[in-house]
Amino acid sequence: MTAPPPGLLSVVGMLACPVCSAALTPDSGTLRCPAGHGFDIARQGHVNLLGHAAPRNADTAVMVAARQRFLDAGHYDPVSDTIAAGLRACRRIVDAGGGTGHHLARALDGAPEAVGLVVDVSVPAARRAARAHPRLGAVVADTWRSLPVRSGVADALLCVFAPRNAAEFARVLAPGGLLVVVTPNPGHLAEAREALGLIGIQDDKLAAVRRSLAGAFEPVATRRVHGLMKLTASEVGDLVAMGPNAFHAHAPANAALRVGLDVQVTTFRRPVPR
Ligand SMILES: C[S@@+](CC[C@H](N)C(=O)[O-])C[C@H]1O[C@@H](n2cnc3c(N)ncnc32)[C@H](O)[C@@H]1O
Ligand SMILES: [Zn+2]
Repeated sequence: MTAPPPGLLSVVGMLACPVCSAALTPDSGTLRCPAGHGFDIARQGHVNLLGHAAPRNADTAVMVAARQRFLDAGHYDPVSDTIAAGLRACRRIVDAGGGTGHHLARALDGAPEAVGLVVDVSVPAARRAARAHPRLGAVVADTWRSLPVRSGVADALLCVFAPRNAAEFARVLAPGGLLVVVTPNPGHLAEAREALGLIGIQDDKLAAVRRSLAGAFEPVATRRVHGLMKLTASEVGDLVAMGPNAFHAHAPANAALRVGLDVQVTTFRRPVPR
């Protein structure tokens, strides 16, 4: 039986039972709803609210470890800093497909009053996220289904290189709440894609995101974050191993490389009803 860690306790009021959508409350080593549906708190501090086995393409432990090493090396810090700068006034932040919790933890550092919830379909990701920050809780769930989050409880939702579900994002955000989406620009990691034959990026990713959110969200601001990352051979290996290329054939990543970082951080708002 595992006592709920402080990070999970800080966000438990935001969680909804994945079976009946009622609020969940801690009951020794379990989160339980009034109807009696119970979900064990794992030894590592996260809770699995998926209700079925993780999909086969969920990030593996090896991918998540590579991602954590790469992010800890600081190469994406300009992205984290840009996200955090826009969330300083927020109190309750959800990170959908939040991975290791890296970006959310940086945002919480800059927002001392805030608590954060990582939702990710990968168990190894949720395990790591549960340890990412004392004001951060982590649950396993699928963005394509319903998020186990109560309606209107979040004032910000982050989605960094992860799947988007416009209807669910609008449901969990309070009116006026912010949705921050990070998408790759066409030049992002171009040198690594050319040198190693990695899979490409959709031509106009941001336009596709705008289309998918139209109606439910209004655009507020967009900011390009770009620079040059000087990667060692092992960091190039981590860059390949931490993403979808881990599932595809590519040339061996065994040499240092200068690789462009080029992403777009775009903020949308859930409209306030008139
Ligand atoms: C490219 S990684 C980005 C992780 C994190 N946002 C970051 O930038 O460090 C994509 C993440 O989305 C998660 N993911 C993929 N499909 C998902 C789904 N259907 N529901 C929730 N998370 C999902 C993966 O497990 C992975 O952690
Ligand atoms: Zn229930």
